[in-house]
Amino acid sequence: LSGALSSITYFSVRSSVLNQQESSLRHEAIDVAELLSGKLQQKVPDYPFLLASYDTPRGSQSLLYRSGKWYPSSPSLTQAVLPHALESLVVNSGRAAQQTIRRNGIPELVVGVPIRLVNSAYFQVFDLSDVSRTLSVLLGSLVLAAAVTTLGGALVGSWGASRALRPLHDAAQAALSIAGGRLDTRLESEDYADLAVLTSAFNRMADRLQERIEREVRFTSDVNHELRSPLTTLATSLSVLEARREELPDRSRRALDLLSDEVRRFRRLVDDLLEISRLDAGLGEVHLDEVTLGSLVEHTVGATAASVMIDMPPDATELRVLVDKRRFERIVANLLDNAKRYAGGATRVAVERDGGIVRFAVEDRGPGVPPEERQRIFDRFSRGTSGRRRGTGDGTGLGLAIVTEHARALGGRVFVEPNGARGARFVVELPLSHNGATDTPATGHARTRRRPAR
Ligand SMILES: Nc1ncnc2c1ncn2[C@@H]1O[C@H](COP(=O)(O)OP(=O)(O)O)[C@@H](O)[C@H]1O
Ligand SMILES: [Mg+2]
Repeated sequence: LSGALSSITYFSVRSSVLNQQESSLRHEAIDVAELLSGKLQQKVPDYPFLLASYDTPRGSQSLLYRSGKWYPSSPSLTQAVLPHALESLVVNSGRAAQQTIRRNGIPELVVGVPIRLVNSAYFQVFDLSDVSRTLSVLLGSLVLAAAVTTLGGALVGSWGASRALRPLHDAAQAALSIAGGRLDTRLESEDYADLAVLTSAFNRMADRLQERIEREVRFTSDVNHELRSPLTTLATSLSVLEARREELPDRSRRALDLLSDEVRRFRRLVDDLLEISRLDAGLGEVHLDEVTLGSLVEHTVGATAASVMIDMPPDATELRVLVDKRRFERIVANLLDNAKRYAGGATRVAVERDGGIVRFAVEDRGPGVPPEERQRIFDRFSRGTSGRRRGTGDGTGLGLAIVTEHARALGGRVFVEPNGARGARFVVELPLSHNGATDTPATGHARTRRRPAR
């Protein structure tokens, strides 16, 4: 808008100033021509001298045409300066005319007036550089003013828009922070008095959510506790019975074996359920330790299965990584346990570094995982064909679901692929630069307040 206003101003001022200037100069030339007309009827010896006496103080020059000859007021002016069309209009057609020209880069106005009485014509050339300088100063200041107002408008606009949108931005950050597991995030109500409804609704929602999740977590841990103590009693009683196994009759011995299998399975189930429900509640915080990749893998694998070959490139061994050791151990333990159960043990643990990620692969030479099961076995309570085979023990179908959740909490992922012609290869990919669960906002700082945990 300011650009448009500036152009309109400039062009209307320019046209009116030029018109005024031209009309006053035209009158001046006509006046001189009239005076000359009188003088020319007498005998005049020196035309240039006569003409020079009429030149205005503003530095105009003149040229007289008389009987096929040209007489300039100063030697710098010649007939060649006159535009051809103007000259022929004045000299041949006997009509007054004017035209702006540019000589040596200076704008000039040429006015031609015929003097019919003595068969002559009078041309006067005016210097227009003053007007043109004034107009260019005007143009410069208008362009500057337009630029300043446009920039100012843009700044004020963006400041106003960002101010108006800040509460929404903060609410979005707070929502992201809650989604990332920080349930005690709240919006500050004092900051936005006019958005009190939004803030209080948001905070109430967050309160309810937090209460609910905390209740669920309490419930899970209560259930776990309540289940554990009878289970422990059962297990103790069973071990008493098992100690006297030989004294029991055949049928009771078989019943005892069945019972201890089921109790072991039940214990595992309770442990796995507890672990996965804690993961769901987002309770498992990520405790990052800085360790070298080599010691991490050796330590973790060694704790579960001593005799697995570890394949690691030499430059990766000394690489320092930030990782949650407990979660990493849970991942590796589950994968090695599966390999032992379903594939007769892992044959190799391979560590590879690929740009910003580290890849851990647990390989075996067992039956492998059929393509249609490769996705499904990571679901909860889902067991594959090899899991349903007899003699594979007390699986719950939760192991790989737990692995998935831990990998996600570390910002990575897990999948299975065939290990060459035979066997399975479970791959865990973790980012080298760890920044928590993937849904945690990585940057940006919500203007929010954290409430102390209840
Ligand atoms: N190394 C493996 N080789 C073949 N199948 C496997 C292997 N590891 C896991 N599976 C399949 O994935 C299923 C799910 O594993 P998991 O979630 O650990 O549960 P669970 O071990 O309790 O059955 C298993 O039942 C099995 O069919
Ligand atoms: Mg398992």
